[in-house]
Amino acid sequence: MTFALQENLQWNLILMILLLVMRPLHQVKFNLSSACSSFVGDAAPVCPLQVQICKRSVEVMDAVRRGAQLAIDECQFQFRNRRWNCSTLESMPVFGKVVTQGTREAAFVYAISAASVAFAVTRACSSGELEKCGCDHNVHGVSPEGFQWSGCSDNIAYGVAFSQSFVDVRERSKGQSSSRALMNLHNNEAGRKAILSHMRVECKCHGVSGSCEVKTCWKAMPPFRKVGNIIKEKFDGATEVEQRKVGTTKVLVPRNSQFKPHTDEDLVYLEPSPDFCDYDPRTPGMLGTVGRQCNRTSKAIDGCELMCCGRGFQTQEVEVVDRCSCKFHWCCYVKCKQCRKMVEIHTCR
Ligand SMILES: *[C@@H]1O[C@H](CO)[C@@H](O)[C@H](O)[C@H]1NC(C)=O
Ligand SMILES: *[C@@H]1O[C@H](CO)[C@@H](O)[C@H](O)[C@H]1NC(C)=O
Ligand SMILES: *[C@@H]1O[C@H](CO)[C@@H](O)[C@H](O)[C@H]1NC(C)=O
Repeated sequence: MTFALQENLQWNLILMILLLVMRPLHQVKFNLSSACSSFVGDAAPVCPLQVQICKRSVEVMDAVRRGAQLAIDECQFQFRNRRWNCSTLESMPVFGKVVTQGTREAAFVYAISAASVAFAVTRACSSGELEKCGCDHNVHGVSPEGFQWSGCSDNIAYGVAFSQSFVDVRERSKGQSSSRALMNLHNNEAGRKAILSHMRVECKCHGVSGSCEVKTCWKAMPPFRKVGNIIKEKFDGATEVEQRKVGTTKVLVPRNSQFKPHTDEDLVYLEPSPDFCDYDPRTPGMLGTVGRQCNRTSKAIDGCELMCCGRGFQTQEVEVVDRCSCKFHWCCYVKCKQCRKMVEIHTCR
């Protein structure tokens, strides 16, 4: 009994971590400790279907958790120079109100989350961590180009299918009727496409002294940074859409009929974003740009003019210590001096 309870508790902690990332849409009205105890009891879980899927695939949960972290890190990297910098919150939902609205930023978060789960699970398959999957054995034999398929091809089909069943389930359980559900499902799929359409072939040469007499190749996912770059580009070119009824089904179409329709790989959003200029205590995640670093010479969004929303900026001189005049010593180490220099740092008022 004690064991079951312990196990259950650990379970729910993992689940909570997941919910933090996977359900940014939902304004969740509980905190971690109370949520866990309510899970251990018979209280209705937040999303029964997702809990079921979790329980059926305990062994992949660790991969999913890594995926979640990957998504947060990549989001913060891609948005480091923007007014909304993908800062996460202590309280739920993890990315704040920003993501509870149907904005471009929400589109990015959903896409990167769905992609990261597919990516991390596929990785775990390849590394032999999981019982249910391994390398992609459908890739074998000799390719039309004449090389031998060999080694471990990433089983992206498994990762994508898992992501579809795990990440999309909340939206699907709502019956796909709301425009938000349609938007989320579309962007989840677009995120996974960013991996699927950029799978690559990696090869190794065999033969005397590196001659490429025999070449063996395998299919590999792009690095996650590349996936992040692709989704960020899609963010920049995202299409504003609205819901329309075609026959009996509801679809998303561009709000501006002059625009060409979006593809499966594009991101879509329903509402324009706020300007993210000011701190709003009533809106979680709306931190404003006071105190953010900016670039004095840039005319882009990282420039002081745009980043500080016209409020102006302060300049500070700070000393930075760097390695310099590095010399290579035989054999084998590098010795550097420490150089101090003054740099100017600009921060928004
Ligand atoms: C979380 O919930 C528990 C149990 O309901 C409560 O004791 C605790 O004060 C809450 N914590 C916060 C930060 O609200
Ligand atoms: C994002 O910006 C806020 C201030 O608006 C800052 O406190 C936070 O450290 C930044 N987060 C990251 C990940 O850069
Ligand atoms: C500031 O912006 C300029 C122009 O875009 C760029 O060349 C420079 O590298 C940027 N500086 C920093 C510190 O990012």
